[in-house]
Amino acid sequence: MKEKLMSIREEAIKAIQAAEAPEKLNEVRVKFLGKKGELTAVLKSMKNVAPEDRPKVGQMVNETRAAIEQILEESKKKMERAIREEKMKMEVIDVTLPAKKNMVGHRHPNTIALEEVQRIFVGMGYEVMEGPEIEYDLYNFEKLNIPADHPAKDEQDTFYINKDIVLRTQTSPVQARVMEQGKLPIRMISPGRVFRSDEVDATHSPSFHQVEGLVIDKNISFADLKGTLEVFAKELFGEDTKTKFRPHHFPFTEPSAEVDVSCFKCGGKGCRFCKGSGWIEILGCGMVHPHVLEMCGIDPEEYTGFAFGVGLERIALLKYEIDDMRLLYENDVRFLKQF
Ligand code: DAH
Repeated sequence: MKEKLMSIREEAIKAIQAAEAPEKLNEVRVKFLGKKGELTAVLKSMKNVAPEDRPKVGQMVNETRAAIEQILEESKKKMERAIREEKMKMEVIDVTLPAKKNMVGHRHPNTIALEEVQRIFVGMGYEVMEGPEIEYDLYNFEKLNIPADHPAKDEQDTFYINKDIVLRTQTSPVQARVMEQGKLPIRMISPGRVFRSDEVDATHSPSFHQVEGLVIDKNISFADLKGTLEVFAKELFGEDTKTKFRPHHFPFTEPSAEVDVSCFKCGGKGCRFCKGSGWIEILGCGMVHPHVLEMCGIDPEEYTGFAFGVGLERIALLKYEIDDMRLLYENDVRFLKQF
């Protein structure tokens, strides 16, 4: 009997060692320890054992069972550990792989143009100031010397909130607001959104952007205006850019002018870009009207100044050679990415 048990034990150990998967171990368990297993068969044959030997044999059977169970359990654990380690190895995360990039869009050509304009004027000592987009008629028109019967005040041109409040049609009202604060001298630019009751087409939009400029100090002359805007044009469009001041009319400046720059595409010879003229109009400007100074609490005998207004979209369209303003408002990233 003893030999029999020993050989069962050895056979079981061999089978366990040969098993290469946890399911195989289970088969070994059934074969040796199961209800119809070999060890159970030994127990069943106890009736052939002399009664006095039975406890001894019973104990031996139990020891054999315990030994096999222990080896089974150890093997199972070992196997499971090996499987887990293998799996971990396969699942290793490569932390050196570049992460997926977040789509963060692209700076708008208007923004790029504005930053350029700001860089130039801040470099000349100007402050950047802001004013409200919803503005009093008083600031948008009245204090800028724009009379009640001026065509700009027509409902065709201006969005009215009520009879006293409008969506500002220009950034010029910021001039009046800054002058009223009474801190002199003034050197400021004021970028922002403006609104006009226009139909959308390649060159018009009901909402667009301007950058206003204002300088007030003692002894400011038209020469200062010309010098300043010449520097601006050269910085913006290149060192060889020439400027031309054409007489014009604005109610809040006297004298007033429109400024053309020599075409930076053909250098002034005339091309498709400048429609053959060699010149491109970029802004309006002038010496601040004495009456405007007075209305804003500044003594025109003591102080003079100049002002200018640039269309931001116009600068962006020119600088980046975009031929349809609508592209600027569609915000298609494939378009924006080009600048
Ligand atoms: N506000 C004018 C416009 O919208 C532009 C302008 C012209 C602004 C002359 C000025 C200026 O400050 O002096 O057409």
